[in-house]
Amino acid sequence: MHDWLERNSILLLIGILVVVAIGGAVEIAPLFWVNGTVEHVNGMRPYTPLELEGRNIYVREGCYLCHSQQIRTLRDEVERYGHYSLAAESEYDHPFQWGSERTGPDLARVGGKYSDEWHRAHLTDPRSVVPESIMPPYKMLGSTALDYRNIQKLLQANRRVGVPYSDDQIAHAKDDLEAQANPDSDGLEAFQKRYPKAQARNFGGDPSRVTELDAVIAYLQMLGTLVDFKTYKAQAPENRR
Ligand code: HEC
Repeated sequence: MHDWLERNSILLLIGILVVVAIGGAVEIAPLFWVNGTVEHVNGMRPYTPLELEGRNIYVREGCYLCHSQQIRTLRDEVERYGHYSLAAESEYDHPFQWGSERTGPDLARVGGKYSDEWHRAHLTDPRSVVPESIMPPYKMLGSTALDYRNIQKLLQANRRVGVPYSDDQIAHAKDDLEAQANPDSDGLEAFQKRYPKAQARNFGGDPSRVTELDAVIAYLQMLGTLVDFKTYKAQAPENRR
Protein backbone atom coordinates (compact mmCIF):
# COMPACT_ATOMS: atom_id res chain seq x y z
CA MET A 1 0.00 0.00 0.00
CA HIS A 2 2.76 2.41 1.00
CA ASP A 3 4.86 1.57 -2.06
CA TRP A 4 1.92 2.10 -4.29
CA LEU A 5 1.01 5.43 -2.69
CA GLU A 6 4.55 6.74 -2.83
CA ARG A 7 4.81 6.01 -6.52
CA ASN A 8 1.69 8.05 -7.32
CA SER A 9 2.63 11.60 -6.56
CA ILE A 10 -0.92 12.94 -6.96
CA LEU A 11 -2.36 10.31 -4.64
CA LEU A 12 0.45 10.93 -2.16
CA LEU A 13 -0.33 14.63 -2.27
CA ILE A 14 -4.03 14.00 -1.62
CA GLY A 15 -3.09 11.64 1.21
CA ILE A 16 -0.86 14.27 2.79
CA LEU A 17 -3.60 16.89 2.53
CA VAL A 18 -6.13 14.60 4.20
CA VAL A 19 -3.78 13.79 7.08
CA VAL A 20 -2.74 17.43 7.58
CA ALA A 21 -6.41 18.51 7.49
CA ILE A 22 -7.28 16.04 10.27
CA GLY A 23 -4.36 17.28 12.36
CA GLY A 24 -5.37 20.88 11.73
CA ALA A 25 -9.00 20.27 12.67
CA VAL A 26 -7.99 18.59 15.93
CA GLU A 27 -5.87 21.61 16.87
CA ILE A 28 -8.19 24.34 15.68
CA ALA A 29 -11.68 23.04 16.49
CA PRO A 30 -11.41 23.44 20.31
CA LEU A 31 -10.65 27.13 19.81
CA PHE A 32 -14.18 27.66 18.50
CA TRP A 33 -15.43 26.65 21.94
CA VAL A 34 -12.61 28.34 23.81
CA ASN A 35 -14.92 29.87 26.40
CA GLY A 36 -15.88 26.40 27.49
CA THR A 37 -12.33 25.07 27.16
CA VAL A 38 -10.70 27.59 29.52
CA GLU A 39 -12.38 27.62 32.90
CA HIS A 40 -12.86 30.91 34.67
CA VAL A 41 -11.35 30.94 38.14
CA ASN A 42 -12.32 33.17 41.07
CA GLY A 43 -9.82 35.86 41.89
CA MET A 44 -8.54 36.46 38.38
CA ARG A 45 -8.82 40.15 37.53
CA PRO A 46 -7.30 42.33 34.81
CA TYR A 47 -3.90 43.73 35.78
CA THR A 48 -3.85 47.17 37.39
CA PRO A 49 -2.35 49.96 35.25
CA LEU A 50 0.88 49.87 37.30
CA GLU A 51 1.17 46.07 37.00
CA LEU A 52 0.50 46.32 33.28
CA GLU A 53 3.33 48.84 32.90
CA GLY A 54 5.58 46.53 34.92
CA ARG A 55 4.64 43.68 32.68
CA ASN A 56 5.58 45.74 29.61
CA ILE A 57 9.00 46.45 31.11
CA TYR A 58 9.37 42.73 31.86
CA VAL A 59 8.75 42.07 28.15
CA ARG A 60 10.94 44.99 27.02
CA GLU A 61 13.90 43.78 29.09
CA GLY A 62 13.49 40.20 27.90
CA CYS A 63 13.08 38.73 31.39
CA TYR A 64 11.13 35.88 29.71
CA LEU A 65 14.35 34.76 27.98
CA CYS A 66 15.65 33.46 31.31
CA HIS A 67 12.45 33.01 33.33
CA SER A 68 9.40 30.88 32.59
CA GLN A 69 5.97 31.55 34.05
CA GLN A 70 4.39 28.13 33.99
CA ILE A 71 4.61 25.56 36.74
CA ARG A 72 4.06 22.15 35.24
CA THR A 73 2.00 19.41 36.84
CA LEU A 74 5.10 17.49 37.89
CA ARG A 75 5.86 16.73 41.49
CA ASP A 76 9.29 18.33 41.63
CA GLU A 77 7.93 21.55 40.13
CA VAL A 78 4.93 21.71 42.43
CA GLU A 79 7.14 21.10 45.47
CA ARG A 80 9.55 23.80 44.43
CA TYR A 81 7.25 26.50 43.09
CA GLY A 82 3.74 25.78 44.42
CA HIS A 83 0.42 24.85 42.79
CA TYR A 84 0.78 24.11 39.08
CA SER A 85 -0.23 26.98 36.79
CA LEU A 86 -3.81 27.16 35.57
CA ALA A 87 -4.69 28.24 32.04
CA ALA A 88 -6.94 30.88 33.60
CA GLU A 89 -3.92 32.48 35.29
CA SER A 90 -2.71 33.59 31.85
CA GLU A 91 -6.21 34.69 30.88
CA TYR A 92 -5.35 38.39 30.70
CA ASP A 93 -1.81 38.03 29.34
CA HIS A 94 -1.35 39.37 25.82
CA PRO A 95 0.98 37.79 24.91
CA PHE A 96 1.39 35.12 27.61
CA GLN A 97 4.77 34.89 29.35
CA TRP A 98 5.09 31.12 29.69
CA GLY A 99 8.60 31.21 28.22
CA SER A 100 10.62 28.15 27.33
CA GLU A 101 13.92 28.71 29.06
CA ARG A 102 14.83 28.54 32.74
CA THR A 103 18.23 30.05 33.19
CA GLY A 104 16.68 31.50 36.34
CA PRO A 105 13.78 30.07 38.37
CA ASP A 106 10.14 30.04 37.28
CA LEU A 107 8.41 33.27 38.33
CA ALA A 108 4.75 32.22 38.04
CA ARG A 109 4.32 32.39 41.86
CA VAL A 110 7.10 34.72 42.91
CA GLY A 111 4.56 37.23 44.32
CA GLY A 112 4.95 37.57 48.09
CA LYS A 113 8.01 35.29 48.19
CA TYR A 114 10.37 38.18 48.91
CA SER A 115 10.05 41.69 50.34
CA ASP A 116 10.05 44.79 48.15
CA GLU A 117 13.48 45.65 49.63
CA TRP A 118 14.82 42.31 48.45
CA HIS A 119 13.53 42.92 44.90
CA ARG A 120 14.97 46.42 44.91
CA ALA A 121 18.40 45.14 45.90
CA HIS A 122 18.16 42.14 43.59
CA LEU A 123 17.10 44.04 40.46
CA THR A 124 19.66 46.79 41.09
CA ASP A 125 22.51 44.36 41.77
CA PRO A 126 21.55 40.65 41.87
CA ARG A 127 24.89 39.63 43.41
CA SER A 128 24.31 41.81 46.45
CA VAL A 129 21.70 39.30 47.65
CA VAL A 130 22.54 36.12 45.69
CA PRO A 131 26.37 36.04 45.40
CA GLU A 132 26.42 33.23 42.81
CA SER A 133 23.75 34.84 40.61
CA ILE A 134 24.36 35.24 36.88
CA MET A 135 21.36 37.54 36.41
CA PRO A 136 22.27 40.88 34.83
CA PRO A 137 21.73 44.05 36.92
CA TYR A 138 18.83 46.37 36.00
CA LYS A 139 20.05 49.40 37.86
CA MET A 140 18.42 51.89 35.51
CA LEU A 141 14.89 50.78 36.53
CA GLY A 142 15.18 52.64 39.81
CA SER A 143 16.62 55.81 38.25
CA THR A 144 14.16 56.00 35.33
CA ALA A 145 10.82 57.73 35.80
CA LEU A 146 7.99 55.56 34.49
CA ASP A 147 6.59 56.98 31.27
CA TYR A 148 2.87 56.32 31.56
CA ARG A 149 1.47 58.94 29.21
CA ASN A 150 -0.10 56.17 27.13
CA ILE A 151 -1.63 54.22 29.98
CA GLN A 152 -5.22 54.72 28.81
CA LYS A 153 -4.35 53.51 25.34
CA LEU A 154 -2.58 50.51 26.84
CA LEU A 155 -5.74 49.49 28.69
CA GLN A 156 -7.83 50.14 25.59
CA ALA A 157 -5.55 47.97 23.47
CA ASN A 158 -5.88 45.17 26.02
CA ARG A 159 -9.65 45.56 26.02
CA ARG A 160 -9.67 45.23 22.26
CA VAL A 161 -8.07 41.79 22.52
CA GLY A 162 -10.49 40.63 25.21
CA VAL A 163 -9.41 41.90 28.64
CA PRO A 164 -12.61 43.13 30.33
CA TYR A 165 -11.49 46.60 31.44
CA SER A 166 -14.52 48.76 32.24
CA ASP A 167 -14.98 52.31 30.93
CA ASP A 168 -14.42 53.45 34.50
CA GLN A 169 -11.10 51.61 34.74
CA ILE A 170 -9.94 53.10 31.45
CA ALA A 171 -11.05 56.62 32.34
CA HIS A 172 -9.16 56.50 35.67
CA ALA A 173 -6.11 54.55 34.50
CA LYS A 174 -3.70 57.36 35.30
CA ASP A 175 -5.20 58.05 38.75
CA ASP A 176 -5.16 54.35 39.56
CA LEU A 177 -1.54 53.99 38.53
CA GLU A 178 -0.50 56.87 40.77
CA ALA A 179 -2.67 55.70 43.67
CA GLN A 180 -1.19 52.20 43.67
CA ALA A 181 2.36 53.52 43.81
CA ASN A 182 1.56 56.16 46.41
CA PRO A 183 -1.01 54.89 48.91
CA ASP A 184 -1.11 58.24 50.73
CA SER A 185 -2.89 59.78 47.76
CA ASP A 186 -6.61 60.52 47.75
CA GLY A 187 -7.26 58.05 44.94
CA LEU A 188 -6.53 54.95 47.02
CA GLU A 189 -10.11 54.09 47.95
CA ALA A 190 -11.39 54.45 44.40
CA PHE A 191 -8.43 52.40 43.15
CA GLN A 192 -9.18 49.56 45.54
CA LYS A 193 -12.81 49.58 44.51
CA ARG A 194 -11.80 49.15 40.89
CA TYR A 195 -9.15 46.51 41.67
CA PRO A 196 -10.23 44.65 44.82
CA LYS A 197 -7.39 43.22 46.92
CA ALA A 198 -4.70 44.84 44.76
CA GLN A 199 -1.60 45.74 46.80
CA ALA A 200 -0.82 49.44 47.01
CA ARG A 201 2.41 50.84 48.41
CA ASN A 202 5.65 52.49 47.46
CA PHE A 203 7.21 49.43 45.78
CA GLY A 204 10.31 51.05 44.32
CA GLY A 205 11.41 53.05 47.35
CA ASP A 206 11.50 56.52 45.76
CA PRO A 207 8.65 58.54 47.29
CA SER A 208 9.16 61.55 45.02
CA ARG A 209 8.10 59.92 41.73
CA VAL A 210 6.86 56.72 40.07
CA THR A 211 9.82 54.82 38.63
CA GLU A 212 10.09 51.78 36.38
CA LEU A 213 11.20 49.87 39.46
CA ASP A 214 7.81 50.59 41.10
CA ALA A 215 6.06 49.06 38.11
CA VAL A 216 8.23 45.94 37.83
CA ILE A 217 8.05 45.15 41.56
CA ALA A 218 4.27 45.74 41.63
CA TYR A 219 4.01 43.23 38.78
CA LEU A 220 6.33 40.66 40.39
CA GLN A 221 4.57 40.89 43.78
CA MET A 222 1.22 40.16 42.12
CA LEU A 223 2.39 37.15 40.09
CA GLY A 224 0.63 33.96 41.11
CA THR A 225 -1.25 35.55 44.01
CA LEU A 226 -4.63 36.27 42.38
CA VAL A 227 -6.15 32.80 42.70
CA ASP A 228 -6.70 31.64 46.26
CA PHE A 229 -5.67 27.99 46.24
CA LYS A 230 -7.16 27.38 49.67
CA THR A 231 -10.60 27.63 48.10
CA TYR A 232 -9.82 26.64 44.52
CA LYS A 233 -11.23 23.32 43.34
CA ALA A 234 -10.51 21.92 39.90
CA GLN A 235 -13.81 21.46 38.12
CA ALA A 236 -14.96 18.60 35.95
CA PRO A 237 -15.28 19.79 32.33
CA GLU A 238 -19.09 19.56 32.33
CA ASN A 239 -19.29 22.09 35.18
CA ARG A 240 -17.30 24.73 33.37
CA ARG A 241 -19.03 27.77 32.16
C1 HEC B 1 20.50 36.08 31.77
C2 HEC B 1 19.35 35.48 32.42
C3 HEC B 1 18.42 36.34 33.24
C4 HEC B 1 17.69 37.44 32.85
C5 HEC B 1 17.68 38.13 31.50
C6 HEC B 1 16.89 37.80 33.98
N1 HEC B 1 17.11 36.96 35.04
FE1 HEC B 1 16.15 36.97 36.82
N2 HEC B 1 17.31 35.41 37.48
C7 HEC B 1 18.28 34.79 36.73
C8 HEC B 1 18.95 33.79 37.55
C9 HEC B 1 20.07 32.90 37.12
C10 HEC B 1 18.32 33.85 38.83
C11 HEC B 1 18.67 33.00 40.09
C12 HEC B 1 19.73 33.70 40.92
C13 HEC B 1 19.21 34.96 41.54
O1 HEC B 1 18.29 34.89 42.39
O2 HEC B 1 19.67 36.05 41.18
C14 HEC B 1 17.29 34.87 38.74
C15 HEC B 1 16.43 35.20 39.77
C16 HEC B 1 15.37 36.09 39.65
C17 HEC B 1 14.37 36.31 40.69
C18 HEC B 1 14.26 35.57 42.01
C19 HEC B 1 13.43 34.32 41.78
C20 HEC B 1 13.34 33.38 42.95
O3 HEC B 1 12.31 32.70 43.07
O4 HEC B 1 14.29 33.32 43.74
C21 HEC B 1 13.54 37.28 40.21
C22 HEC B 1 12.32 37.87 40.92
C23 HEC B 1 14.01 37.67 38.90
N3 HEC B 1 15.12 36.91 38.60
C24 HEC B 1 13.43 38.66 38.13
C25 HEC B 1 13.91 39.04 36.87
C26 HEC B 1 13.38 40.14 36.12
C27 HEC B 1 12.22 41.02 36.54
C28 HEC B 1 14.12 40.22 34.97
C29 HEC B 1 14.00 41.25 33.86
C30 HEC B 1 14.08 42.65 34.26
C31 HEC B 1 15.11 39.15 35.01
N4 HEC B 1 14.95 38.47 36.17
C32 HEC B 1 16.00 38.88 33.99
C33 HEC B 1 18.58 35.04 35.40
C34 HEC B 1 18.05 36.05 34.63
